[in-house]
Amino acid sequence: MMLMLFSAMKWLHAALGLLLFVLVISRMARFPNLGMQTLHLGLGVLLISRKLPLFISSLVLFWISIYAKGVPADPWPVLAAGWSVCSPCSFFAGLVGFCVACWRSTIGKFVLVVGLAVLANVIITLHPLQHPEDILPRFNPNTSTAETPSLRLRLCSDYSAEAAAERKRIGVLCEPLAPLSWEEAEKRAEVTLLAMSDEERYSLMQGIGWIGLPTWLPSPLPAIPKIGYYMGNTPPIPRLGVPPLKLHDAGNGFRNMPEPLGASGSTIMWPCSLAFGATWDTTLVKEVAGAIGREYRGKGANVILGPSVQVQRVARNGRNFEYMSGEDPYLGAKMSEAYVVGVQGEGVMACLKHFGFNEQETNRNFQSSVVDEKTAWELYYPPFEAGVAAGAASVMCSYNRVNGTHSCANEALLRRDLKQKMGFRGFVMTDWWALHHPADSSVVRGLDMEMPGAGGETYLYKGDLRTMEESQAGNFTGYGLGLEKSKLQREIYNDPAYRILSAAYKLHLFDLPSCTPGLDCVEPIFSNQRSLEAEKLAMRCASESVVLLKNEPRTGETKALPLLPSKVKKLALIGEAWVAPSRSTNELGMMGDYYSGGGSGHCYIPPELFTLPIVSMYERANSLGIDISSALTNNITDAMNGIKDADAIVVLAATTAEESRDRASLHLDNGADDLIFELAKQEKPVIVLTQVPGTILLPWKDNVDAIALMFLGGEFTGHAWASIIFGDVSPSAKLPIMLPKNESYTVQPSEEFDIFYNEGLYTSYRSTSASEAATYPFGHGLSYTEFQYATPALQDQDCESLLCVQVLVKNVGGRSGAEVVQGYLEFPPEADEPKLILRGFQKTRVLEPGSSEQISFKFTERDFSVYLNGWRLQSRATLHIGSSSADLRQSIELVLPQ
Ligand code: BGC
Repeated sequence: MMLMLFSAMKWLHAALGLLLFVLVISRMARFPNLGMQTLHLGLGVLLISRKLPLFISSLVLFWISIYAKGVPADPWPVLAAGWSVCSPCSFFAGLVGFCVACWRSTIGKFVLVVGLAVLANVIITLHPLQHPEDILPRFNPNTSTAETPSLRLRLCSDYSAEAAAERKRIGVLCEPLAPLSWEEAEKRAEVTLLAMSDEERYSLMQGIGWIGLPTWLPSPLPAIPKIGYYMGNTPPIPRLGVPPLKLHDAGNGFRNMPEPLGASGSTIMWPCSLAFGATWDTTLVKEVAGAIGREYRGKGANVILGPSVQVQRVARNGRNFEYMSGEDPYLGAKMSEAYVVGVQGEGVMACLKHFGFNEQETNRNFQSSVVDEKTAWELYYPPFEAGVAAGAASVMCSYNRVNGTHSCANEALLRRDLKQKMGFRGFVMTDWWALHHPADSSVVRGLDMEMPGAGGETYLYKGDLRTMEESQAGNFTGYGLGLEKSKLQREIYNDPAYRILSAAYKLHLFDLPSCTPGLDCVEPIFSNQRSLEAEKLAMRCASESVVLLKNEPRTGETKALPLLPSKVKKLALIGEAWVAPSRSTNELGMMGDYYSGGGSGHCYIPPELFTLPIVSMYERANSLGIDISSALTNNITDAMNGIKDADAIVVLAATTAEESRDRASLHLDNGADDLIFELAKQEKPVIVLTQVPGTILLPWKDNVDAIALMFLGGEFTGHAWASIIFGDVSPSAKLPIMLPKNESYTVQPSEEFDIFYNEGLYTSYRSTSASEAATYPFGHGLSYTEFQYATPALQDQDCESLLCVQVLVKNVGGRSGAEVVQGYLEFPPEADEPKLILRGFQKTRVLEPGSSEQISFKFTERDFSVYLNGWRLQSRATLHIGSSSADLRQSIELVLPQ
């Protein structure tokens, strides 16, 4: 029996050896510079083979890890996942085996001691602030003061010559700056580029400042930025005035990491980007982006790793809360433009991400999105294109593959579509470790910068770049550069530095003081950037992102919302979400909660600075003389005790999501649906409030009296609820997505290697089954008042566009409120387009009862075109104007003058 077991183990062993061999060969064939990793893997396997227990444990670890990641359907991803886990496992298991073996002999002990000394040396040199590379030449030897809001306020209201000098020294901006034109910026970049050494040029192409084991050591440990560094960093070149770039996330504002890497709570946790989309208010979004930009500048950062402008395809995508476009390219384009202009006006580069087709998190490093040209240009590209047109300085290529090739080495995506067709003149950086190719198949295909430049698979080393440049290697077609190949090849290696310098000139970064990553940036990173002004703006933004889905009493006439003291004396607050903390204790503070989603975009506020939603509700209810009883639980029995003598019930239910995995379902957390069903049996008004990271299901929607929804709303979530619920503000937000009746109406995350976007343009309200699928349609959102739309008319005077249409919108209800007026074009059937396409929207100011506003839709040629091997201008269309994609109130035929 034992013998049989033993021989089975041997076979297993041989099988593993064979698998490793296949992995090595296949990886080496694709990525030739993996030599050192391969050597270590080989060494590990050799050593493991002498130690059966170690072999078994590494085998077990290997398979557990693969299963934890989910087994992809395609054999290649299995190999890739296998490699990434197997290599470190076998290496470390082998290392232990090696140490044990050494310990048995005197020479071995000696070798071991020397080996440990070398290892200690490696670790010491990696220690923060010890490595010689950390001591970068200072960009601004004379500036050491961080710009804080109070300093800015003081210096901007002081008109003396001393204050002006101080403003210049610190780099305080009192007004948004006007970026240079690309032409002007490029002219200056050219001069600087000519004065640069190769070494200096290459130094702009790869990130620095992370602690990670050297890439030739397969490491299971995560790499992290060193103290005084940002998520991404490039060094300054003081002799030429080239500023350091300091890149930082993004999702809900400046990513405050826990001590000692950052100072939690020193910036605002803003609503998530999808909440921006829900405001449909470009003026507000531009203002918010400006305020975020000021926080970044104060923190010493000059590149924000946002906005994220993906158009949402998969309802369960774990990162939808980060994607401000919602499900529509036109909405996304307008948001993207507003954000880029707002943030860049503060001297902070925007980074449009994740380019492209990164619409799910499942297998995000392996899957290939297979998308046709029409779908790409009409549905997924417009927010990127609009950001590019607004002057975005950078773009981040994504983890996934596109039509088979990884985004960061995808010539069709980067060089042809982004740089040539969209005319992008800034630089492309990788997502963190998203580069899987050496420079001869990535830089030549349109990549300019690798991030973060340490740990994992890192490719763009100066030496490698030089060798490759000298050999003029690279297999590419040179889309759009219009140069013969040899010249193109010479230019191509200058192009990244040229683009990075141009972007820096464009935003005046050569003129603005800036701390140098390392000790110099510690003060700004730890500075407090909160201001009352910004807090008020964040409160406004959160309130204006609340979508009122339903306000229709099950019985009687009186609407449940707003809750006025004349109607309600005692209110029951039910649900554990009322007291859900802002949390983030693990992995560099990346855990999601009900205010900010998880992952690189997570923003954390420590408990002492965070106001729980229930506290805001208590405060506002007290001031109105409304009593509150509560059961802060999702437990049905306990909840029932909390509602006894209340006049109305307000349930708060929530769910969250996070980067790197898709949501398991579209339901609310911890049995909230059952709780709501049960509460809805009461004969009192039941109001349901939800805090969510994207699409949810509302199976109880017909059983309750009112429903409101907020996309993860940041630290002023409680304030926003109180302001809406008690009627201080009338809701004005609209759904940037469709809420489906059930999950079968949504696109599911796919486990396949190739993900075919076969549905084309027909997602969300564009789908032919939209009216049947939607519980609440795209664009839906109620108000506490009513609006009337007059008959639209063509606007002849002062139309500076292709075609303008005016419509008068009047507040005919009893309260003040603002309306988002939406314009959907219907092209004739021969255009072969979805029936409705959003091509215009505008939010009115807050209208008092009886007052009105003239809304003007200005259509450009692009708005009036459809894509068919290029944009084709249409000659006619019907414009439908309404309050949502399913509530169209007026129509007008539009014919282009011949
Ligand atoms: C994310 C990016 C982020 C980067 C840096 C990656 O995991 O995909 O969105 O900017 O990390 O934190």
